[in-house]
Amino acid sequence: MNLPSINDVPATRPHRIAPDTWLIPNLAPAGEGLYLPVNSMVIRGREPVIVDTGAPLHRALWLDKVFSVVEPEDVRWIFLSHDDGDHTGGLLEALERCPNATLVTNFFSVERLALEKPALPLHRMRWIEPGGSFDAGDRVLHLFRPPIFDGPTSRGLFDPKTAAMWIVDSFACLTPGALDAEDVPAAALAQMPAMNSAVAPWHAWLDRSSYGRHVDAVEAFGATTVASAHGPVLRGERLDDAFDGLRGLAGAPIIPMPGQELLDTLLAPTLMEAVA
Ligand SMILES: [Fe+2]
Ligand SMILES: [Fe+2]
Repeated sequence: MNLPSINDVPATRPHRIAPDTWLIPNLAPAGEGLYLPVNSMVIRGREPVIVDTGAPLHRALWLDKVFSVVEPEDVRWIFLSHDDGDHTGGLLEALERCPNATLVTNFFSVERLALEKPALPLHRMRWIEPGGSFDAGDRVLHLFRPPIFDGPTSRGLFDPKTAAMWIVDSFACLTPGALDAEDVPAAALAQMPAMNSAVAPWHAWLDRSSYGRHVDAVEAFGATTVASAHGPVLRGERLDDAFDGLRGLAGAPIIPMPGQELLDTLLAPTLMEAVA
């Protein structure tokens, strides 16, 4: 059987989600009219910042979209949230096309990437840990450990100038194509806890009060616009609900993912063809 390709997804374009702040969206088919967002972001301030570099699947689309928002030679920073493949798809190309950019990453990401990519230019990097920050000219951007993550190197980014936040793999949610939570049906948003559980099954062993303090600390940045790699943009009540949903996961059982039954369903048409 053939799974749907990225040619079968709704077209998406970069769009402004906060002052100076652009979501770079892409979608991957996820079955039954639903799609997995694979977003990144650009902050187009005095020293423009690319925030994550998309998935290999979307590399050409990602490059077109990013450089429709910012000129490559103007980019001063490439912030890499972590080393997972779906965040590093355009990394080498971005470094090559943006000669004035410094890569914001960390020791462990570089160690891990050394196993799968050509050597990255150490002299073009800044290694910053959660709690650290960097000055992008007209704003200081703060790094933090996201509340949900699937890689130990993950760092989110908060821009106090616009109150926009990049929360990486937290708040994932399949969508019919909409990129703003206001436009996503409630039934789709209701799946967010299951997606959070899939990304970070370790929530089952968390102590409610200590994890609650971590969620409180992230919420206390005061973000009014929260973008993520795999979910819709969250604001207002939808954002409050998303944070509350995280608190509810602490110590709760892992939410099971589809198993063999789904694979059987996907393969059934092929088996029917073989029999016919
Ligand atoms: Fe990840
Ligand atoms: Fe991801």
